[in-house]
Amino acid sequence: MAYEYISVASEDGVGIITLNRPKILNALNLQLVDELVDQLEQMDRDPDIRVIILTGNARAFAAGADINEMAEASAIDIMKRNQFAVWDRISLISKPIIGAVSGFVLGGGCELMMNCDIVIASETAVIGQPEIKLGVMPGAGGTQRLTRVVGERKALEMLLTGEPISAKEALKYGLVNRVVPVEAYYQEALKLAKQIAQQPPLAVQVIKKAVYKAGDLPLQEGMDYERNSFYLLLASEDRKEGMQAFLEKRKPRFTGN
Ligand code: CAA
Repeated sequence: MAYEYISVASEDGVGIITLNRPKILNALNLQLVDELVDQLEQMDRDPDIRVIILTGNARAFAAGADINEMAEASAIDIMKRNQFAVWDRISLISKPIIGAVSGFVLGGGCELMMNCDIVIASETAVIGQPEIKLGVMPGAGGTQRLTRVVGERKALEMLLTGEPISAKEALKYGLVNRVVPVEAYYQEALKLAKQIAQQPPLAVQVIKKAVYKAGDLPLQEGMDYERNSFYLLLASEDRKEGMQAFLEKRKPRFTGN
């Protein structure tokens, strides 16, 4: 697939996907989301990639779904497009996705950010779900994921006013992990991605999955899931290498096996 609206790079085991529709603030049209999910799935299959960064530019991570594409479409057109089904595939990506966000993080942009596992935000980020101002509501998780992270009261305030919150406030509500100056957000995300890329890849993926189970399962079922995942990792080569390296007082060399 040749990409028109994203660009792709890699560095030291980190795959980097940059949304690239700057003139209209990385508005997410159908093609952009198809390209993004295609590339995420490719990186997920690529053994040389261990962590993925998803970013935009300093002015905008993404200002939401492309309103031009939606403005004339009927309810039935949009239902037939089933345009959010492709988004569901993002939650099947097993490698960690680190969001490096700045500027406008609105609507579908906020929903995309919430699909990332860890988020580094620039101080200039403004984050929100303004769909109500267009007479609609979020359709890609904005009422569900946002509520799970920030709680019902803050979610209702954000969703019913449509007003964005600052990066600082997002940090307070656990919507982002770190806030850094705009000059530093991308490098900070890259540094973190490279750090995680050094970890044993199977453990990284199994831990990611287990953490999301915590939100879905009753505690004892979650504990059982965790225990079985723990047993599974004991069968990995990297477990042998990790423990051996500790005993030999050297740095481990993890292979992902
Ligand atoms: N779709 C299409 N085009 C968009 C866009 C969007 N979501 N957001 C911005 N643009 C375009 C603008 O139309 C403008 O294009 P032109 O230069 O051709 O006029 C260009 O990007 C720059 O934008 P502005 O001139 O408006 O820049 P600004 O700095 O004055 O304002 C902004 C920035 C506050 C983000 C404003 O553009 C805005 O409010 N955008 C819409 C945000 C929004 O409502 N997002 C939700 C979309 S619905 C959704 O996402 C549904 C879902 O759940 C998936």
